[in-house]
Amino acid sequence: MSDDVRTPVIGIIGGSGLYDIEGLEDQRWQRVSSPWGEASDQLLFGTLDGVSVVFLPRHGRGHKLSPTDLNYRANIDVMKRAGVTDILSLSAVGSLKGELPPGHFVIVDQFIDRTFARAKSFFGAGCVAHVSMADPVCRRLGDALERAAVEQGLPVTRGGTYLAMEGPQFSTRAESHLYRSWGCSVIGMTNMPEAKLAREAEICYATVAMVTDFDCWHTEHEAVTVEQVVKVLLGNADKARGLVRAVVPGLGGERHVCSAGCDHALDYAIITPSAA
Ligand code: ADE
Repeated sequence: MSDDVRTPVIGIIGGSGLYDIEGLEDQRWQRVSSPWGEASDQLLFGTLDGVSVVFLPRHGRGHKLSPTDLNYRANIDVMKRAGVTDILSLSAVGSLKGELPPGHFVIVDQFIDRTFARAKSFFGAGCVAHVSMADPVCRRLGDALERAAVEQGLPVTRGGTYLAMEGPQFSTRAESHLYRSWGCSVIGMTNMPEAKLAREAEICYATVAMVTDFDCWHTEHEAVTVEQVVKVLLGNADKARGLVRAVVPGLGGERHVCSAGCDHALDYAIITPSAA
């Protein structure tokens, strides 16, 4: 870890329904290459109130990539190469709790990773590292998001566990009940391994989970359909654009290290001795 002053660059990963950022000045789309392969799309560079912003539509413009097919390593790597210090991940989810209805936003603080068909680490081939994932979300970013969401009058809950499933099919009713019995708040298909890779890349990370549906456990609602998800998603995307405009300016000041420690996650994580 070095103690030099960092100028924040805010990375925004937009999920289903969010393919641009409103009010971005000096916009330009630019491809960033990565040794990990192709990212989902070019990156959109720009500024919001003087703060540098880098946007990536997670599924690509036109939503062509399924959750399993995303190159999560390339997505995080291109953000790192673009100088991103903080990632705000905006993601559509199903709700596993009655008090989190469609239209509600959850700033999650935990994840359970049930994905199984994705590359999940930058480490392994000749260099082994084990980063801590005990607190997978940057507290500082969570605080900023919560403040901005409240200011905007958005229905928001701070804290909750995001169950990451492989997909692309939605859950069976038995799975949905199982995840509820585990105390999970929301379910989605993309935030793992994204959060793990951001930690390995020493990028602060926080998720805004935007509820589109009650998952199929809810007896008074029809089982989840894409039609229903898309309808709510478009309204959520408008609110998310407002949230981004509200939160980014406050993240712009120079800082030394992240008070939550995300940006020095590798300090004690690499187990392979460095070559003499
Ligand atoms: N994304 C939006 N709704 C979802 C659900 N019910 N399950 C998994 N991912 C989702």
